[in-house]
Amino acid sequence: MVKIYDVVEKADIVVFGAPIYMSGVTAQFKTVLDRLFAFLGPAPEFVSRLPKGKRAAFVVSQGYEDAKEYEAHINQMKNAIASIGFEDVRVLVAPGLNGLGEAIGKPDMVKEARIIGESLVRA
Ligand SMILES: Cc1cc2nc3c(=O)[nH]c(=O)nc-3n(C[C@H](O)[C@H](O)[C@H](O)COP(=O)(O)O)c2cc1C
Repeated sequence: MVKIYDVVEKADIVVFGAPIYMSGVTAQFKTVLDRLFAFLGPAPEFVSRLPKGKRAAFVVSQGYEDAKEYEAHINQMKNAIASIGFEDVRVLVAPGLNGLGEAIGKPDMVKEARIIGESLVRA
């Protein structure tokens, strides 16, 4: 985690990525998210100690074709990322991915990723 803390503290933009396993983000992703709690000040305010202006992309891949299938859960994870101290969190849901290299065969998805990336860089 020490390396991750260092990267998160220094970066202007962080891309978080997580596949959906068993209807939720992986335990590994959630563990990292939980440990980012270290950037928050004491209860009850939990004010973030991260420098202002940080942005993030949250990329979620899933096998299920319906991009809205896990919408409520993904929004909760997005809000958790924001609560760590990211002021602008853009979500990319990548549905219908069940094998290595499949994303490149989905031009609309690649285009959406590019749009999110470019808008975060400009923000
Ligand atoms: C153990 C396991 C559980 C999964 N559970 C789900 C699921 O509940 N819903 C879904 O849409 N896709 C599910 N998938 C498919 C993955 O979300 C999808 O293939 C993803 O792109 C895999 O990313 P990865 O190659 O980084 O593991 C599951 C895949 C695995 C291996």
